[in-house]
Amino acid sequence: MSVLEKLSSKTIIDLENKYGAHNYHPLPVVLSRGEGVYVWDVEGKKYYDFLSAYSAVNQGHCHPKIVNAMMQQAQTLTLTSRAFYNDQLGPYEEYLTKYFGFDKVLPMNTGAEAVETALKLCRKWSYEVKGIAAHQAQIIVSEGNFHGRTTTIISFSNDENARKNFGPYTDGFIKIPYDSIDALEEALKDNPNIAGFLVEPIQGEAGVYTPADDYMMRAKELCNQYNVLFIADEIQTGIARTGSLLAVCGNCTCENHCEKQATYATPDILILGKALSGGAYPVSAVLANDSIMNVIKPGQHGSTFGGNPVAAAVAVAALEVVVDENLAQNARTLGKLFRSKLAEYIKTSNIATLVRGRGLLNAVVINDTEESDTAWNICMALRDNGLLAKPTHGNIIRFAPPLVMNEDQLLDCVSIIIKTLKQFEK
Ligand SMILES: Cc1ncc(COP(=O)(O)O)c(C=O)c1O
Repeated sequence: MSVLEKLSSKTIIDLENKYGAHNYHPLPVVLSRGEGVYVWDVEGKKYYDFLSAYSAVNQGHCHPKIVNAMMQQAQTLTLTSRAFYNDQLGPYEEYLTKYFGFDKVLPMNTGAEAVETALKLCRKWSYEVKGIAAHQAQIIVSEGNFHGRTTTIISFSNDENARKNFGPYTDGFIKIPYDSIDALEEALKDNPNIAGFLVEPIQGEAGVYTPADDYMMRAKELCNQYNVLFIADEIQTGIARTGSLLAVCGNCTCENHCEKQATYATPDILILGKALSGGAYPVSAVLANDSIMNVIKPGQHGSTFGGNPVAAAVAVAALEVVVDENLAQNARTLGKLFRSKLAEYIKTSNIATLVRGRGLLNAVVINDTEESDTAWNICMALRDNGLLAKPTHGNIIRFAPPLVMNEDQLLDCVSIIIKTLKQFEK
C-alpha cells in the first residue's frame, strides 16, 4: 500500500491547498478509484460520476479494453518523438481519418493545443490558399465560448475571470452572438479577411447552450458561400456524447450513430480531444482534408508528445469501444429519458426552472441568481447523496455521466437528483 492510500480526504485536500496552485475550486471529495459509471473516494464511499471529467470519460472509468491497450503499449514503446516514425501512429491515423471521414489528422495532446493548431492551420490556409494579405486574417468566434486556456484562446473569451491580467492579447478575432445566423452573415459579408468560423456545436462550459437544430448546418452553408473555414470544436460534444458520433455529424462513416447525418454540417476542420482517449491519456486531434492540411509543412508545427505510440494505441481502443458498445445510441436514448423525467419534475418545482441538452450532455438551471451559491450547495448535497456533479456557471448544473450507463442506473440517478433538488424547494 502506498503512503497516499492511507491519507484521509481532509489531509489530501490540505496538501493540495498548501502545495498546489489554487487554479481550480474542486468539490471537496477525494477520489481514488473508478470503474464504469462509478467512482470511490478514499474513505470507500461510492458515487455516480455525473461529470465524466468534463466529458472525457465517455467510455466509463478504467474501461478494460482501453486500459489493456495502454498497458501493452506502455510496456513496449512509449515515446519516440516525431523525429522518427513509430509503428502505432500511421495505423491510428488511417483508422481515425476513416472513422470521421477526413483525409488527414494532425495529432496533439490537450484540447487547447488542438484548438491552437486549428487556428494556426486556418490562418495559414487563408494566406496561402484563400489569398488574404499578410497578418490580416480574422476568425469569427462566439460570445460565451470556451476553447481552452492558452493566451490566444483567452484573448477571445468573454469570461473576465479567465482573461483578467493575462494580456496583452492576440488580435484577429471577431466575436458574435451564439446561435445567430443573422450575426454570422453580418460578420461575413463585405469582409474578405475572414478566414474561419470557430464554434462549439453546443456550448458546454457556458451552461450547455443548445442552438437551433439547423444552426450548424446554416452556419456551414454561409461559410461555404464566403469561402471561410467552418471549424467545429467537438472536444466536449464529440465522440458520442450528444447522441451521435459528432454533434455536427456530417461525413462520418458510422451511419448507425447519426440519426440526422444527412442534415448536419461537415466541418472543414474538426477538433477532438477528451474522450478520444476515454480519459485514459491526453490525446487530441485536428482533422481536415488535404486542401487545408497540406499547407502545414515539416518544422512548422508540432509537439514532442503529439502522436506518441501510447496515445495512438489508446485512441484506437477508445474509438472501438464507442462503436462496439453502441454508445451514441445509448446516449441518445438515455438523454431523452433524463430530460423527460427532469422536465416532469420541473413542472412542479420552484428550485429548478429548466432542463436542456442533447444526448447525455445536459444541464439543469437553478432558480437563483448567477452569483448565488445555491447550485454549489445542491452539488454538495448531491455528493452526500452519492452523485457527483458541478455547477458550470453560477446557477447551472451540468449532468454528463459516462455513456456506458444503463437505464436502471440512470433512473436511480434521476431519483437521487430529484430527491436532492426537493431538499432545496422553498
Ligand atoms: C469545447 C472545449 N474546447 C476546448 C477545451 C480545452 O480542452 P483542454 O482542457 O484539454 O485543454 C475544452 C475543455 O473543457 C472544451 O470543453
